[in-house]
Amino acid sequence: MACLTPEQRIPELRREIGHHNRLYYEQATPEITDQEFDALLRKLRDLEALHPELVTPDSPSQRVGGGPLEAFETVSHLVPMQSLDNTYSEDEVADFVRRMQKLLPGEKIPLTVEPKIDGVAISLLYEDGRLVRAATRGDGSRGDNVTENIKTIQALPTRISGGFAGRMEIRGEVYLPKKRFAEINEERDEAGLPAFANPRNAAAGSLKQLDSRLVAKRGLKALFYGFGAFEGSEVRTQQEFLELLRSFGLPGPDKVWTAETVEQALEAIHDLGRIRHDFPYETDGAVLKADVLAQRDRLGSTSKAPRWAMAYKYEPERAVTRLREITVQVGRTGVLTPVAELEPVLVSGSTVSRATLHNEEEIQRKDIRIGDHVVIEKAGEVIPAVVEVLKDRRDGHEKVFAMPGRCPSCDGPVLREEGQVAVRCPNPSCQAQWRRRLEHFASRGAMDIEGLGESMVGQLVDAGLVSDLATIYSLNKDRLLDLERMGEKSATNLLAGIEASRERPLWRLLFGLGILHVGVTAARKLAERFGTLDALGAASEEDLQATEDVGEVMARSIRLWFENPQVGELLEKLRQAGLNFGERDEHTPSGEGPLQGTIWVLTGSLSVSRDEVAERIRQAGGTVSGSVSKKTSYVLAGEEAGSKLDKARKFGVIIIDEAEFRDLLSGKENERDSAS
Ligand code: IVH
Repeated sequence: MACLTPEQRIPELRREIGHHNRLYYEQATPEITDQEFDALLRKLRDLEALHPELVTPDSPSQRVGGGPLEAFETVSHLVPMQSLDNTYSEDEVADFVRRMQKLLPGEKIPLTVEPKIDGVAISLLYEDGRLVRAATRGDGSRGDNVTENIKTIQALPTRISGGFAGRMEIRGEVYLPKKRFAEINEERDEAGLPAFANPRNAAAGSLKQLDSRLVAKRGLKALFYGFGAFEGSEVRTQQEFLELLRSFGLPGPDKVWTAETVEQALEAIHDLGRIRHDFPYETDGAVLKADVLAQRDRLGSTSKAPRWAMAYKYEPERAVTRLREITVQVGRTGVLTPVAELEPVLVSGSTVSRATLHNEEEIQRKDIRIGDHVVIEKAGEVIPAVVEVLKDRRDGHEKVFAMPGRCPSCDGPVLREEGQVAVRCPNPSCQAQWRRRLEHFASRGAMDIEGLGESMVGQLVDAGLVSDLATIYSLNKDRLLDLERMGEKSATNLLAGIEASRERPLWRLLFGLGILHVGVTAARKLAERFGTLDALGAASEEDLQATEDVGEVMARSIRLWFENPQVGELLEKLRQAGLNFGERDEHTPSGEGPLQGTIWVLTGSLSVSRDEVAERIRQAGGTVSGSVSKKTSYVLAGEEAGSKLDKARKFGVIIIDEAEFRDLLSGKENERDSAS
């Protein structure tokens, strides 16, 4: 590489950057970190600065982001959406402040410092106070019209009061709350789909969906910090602007600092660095802006970025450790995933000893070898990833990894599907898959079999006591007591748990059976619509697709599943075992029960899953809603409840904790009322 001339290196860098831009913007599946991308772009800019004769208008250095997607209508922004200069260096922050001072000599330049939200940039267009359009940044001048998707964000006003005449472009960031991100990945895992790498990719991927009903389920949120066109505005400062947004009902950043000197700006940056992990959204930096709009106008912009603003980016938290081994995990659907087994190391406050390596291509691309010293980063604070190999620390003993040609569990040959990176074990009786399927079947979100957790599943499978899902229903105490470490009490509990699961509602069974692509939401909708497993089995692909949440791919997958003769045998055995195929489901007529006619909002972390709580509310005749409004009857608040509580107080909604909730469910409401 070192011997390439600038004439060769520059086009190569452009190709590389173009490739990563497409992965990031169009497929929402980046292969490199932001920092690696920034480094490539910086390299290109440096080379172009040395060789201005080689700069072309289509160079990625001259553009802001990727191109808009073809599937959406392309729309022009009234005022282009610029990007920000960004830096990881405090010295460059000082340079930025001094540069502004030089341009406006003798003037005080008050600054605001805001969190830099790591989401997807969006521009809302309001005309005479009505939301008429929402567009992504696209190439900065033209973006995708994603109005329908943006409207699924319930908190966004489609009308703003105050008699605003004219056009107003409000700019901000669409994001996926960190908690929701974790839930979605769990759901995807359960449905056999690949996890999103971080909340930003998940948000970008969601906004890209053409079907806004699917977007609505993702639970996107947005917050706003800027404007493009702003006709008839009398706002003078950023602080006033944020205030105005609040009065419109448009959320802004959780906290904003003010500064007048470099020292104060750095102090704000450090302060934000300490508390940013507590925000419900991901942040990757601080944005410094001149507060006074008239000063901004005089400072102006370069072709890409304003001179009045700059982003300081925090270094992601990283640590160096040794990769001891690469193991291969077999998932419930047979996908083989290589996993890095690490010497335990502390990153962002928790010990990391494993990291997913995604697939073989990823290992080859990063040239990760067994025995290497690697840099671990907690990408998006959630999933640890290997971001870099320290090649100069190799001593020659490192081993190259190759994906096994046979399944590490059943030793059968593995398949690599045409055009896909994933390698799969196609053997449906593979022990590892079988184990994961049973774990899933028994899990709390599915059949909820008490006593049948991961280690018990392992014991039963290893001892050969269970050979398909139906065999757990013929376990008896004598057989269980033969197992090591199995006492009378655990055996009794397990059998009681299994017994109770015979009565589980159909949606739990459907989800637990692990049909490819059928997650918990679809399982509920299918159970609701078809009522029994037999009716579902008789449904055509078209019938299936007429169900809310069920698309073509899922419908096909369900049909194929029912057509599989082994599935037919399994279902027959489960029927013999007396499981509820929907016939015994209670269809509580809505409105009946102790919570009759009440509307609930859940917030904070609760001691049982939200799905479960919501189910109990529905069973008791109530309905569950995602956001607090005047119509909300109760807010059930768990620990660390956030902004929904403020809203509940504002609307005078009753806020109760879990103990009070249990009382209400068991009909003790009157006692509570008379006691208070
Ligand atoms: S101000 C002229 N403020 O970060 C551009 N941007 O890397 C003014 N971002 O393009 C942008 N949080 O999409 C601004 N508090 C914040 C922000 C923010 C996130 C995004 C925005 C921007 C990108 C630059």
